[in-house]
Amino acid sequence: MNRYEQMLLENKAWVEEMLEGDPAFFKKLSASQKPEFLWIGCSDSRVSPSEITQTSPGEIFIHRNVANLVVHTDFNLLSVLQYAVEVLEINHVIVCGHYGCGGVHAALTQQSYGMIDIWLRHIKDTYCAHKHEVDTQPNDEARANKLVEINVRQQVRNLAKTTIIQKAWKNRQRPFLHGWVFDMKDGIIRPQMEITPHQPCDDPVYAYDVFKK
Ligand code: CO
Repeated sequence: MNRYEQMLLENKAWVEEMLEGDPAFFKKLSASQKPEFLWIGCSDSRVSPSEITQTSPGEIFIHRNVANLVVHTDFNLLSVLQYAVEVLEINHVIVCGHYGCGGVHAALTQQSYGMIDIWLRHIKDTYCAHKHEVDTQPNDEARANKLVEINVRQQVRNLAKTTIIQKAWKNRQRPFLHGWVFDMKDGIIRPQMEITPHQPCDDPVYAYDVFKK
């Protein structure tokens, strides 16, 4: 049997298991969604949000891209963010990076991987802005780990710079922004930073006049 055929069988087994636990499971699931969290994570196959947080279908709205970047011209991410914040009214946005991130490792090298180099340029820019902090680490693994942490913090700050977040802070004092790093060597998620709705955008250059509208 092919692996994909096995996946379809596993799906049927899962349906049975869910129905055993709650015969109305799919009726409830299909009625609506009211997730409390937006997860912005890496596409890496080893960092499965629901698995590592033991959350159920309906609990997390998810966006994933290579190296969990928040790029202010990325309409895919911005659409997810706007819908999650303004329509679903989620209370928390979690940016979750991970040690051993291929995207971050690539950004530390001169190697070209094709078109993805353009995407990873955002991490190179972050590296450039924090070069001393990264380069003073004792070895390559520590340098990459440091950049993973800095990258996550940068993406959380990028969220705070959007009018979507600033408007939501003004209107309903939500969402809280969290920066986490998943360590696949021990399975632990390590929180790196948090920005609460009561903190203004830390750089006035990016603070919009959403309060007047
Ligand atoms: Co990654």
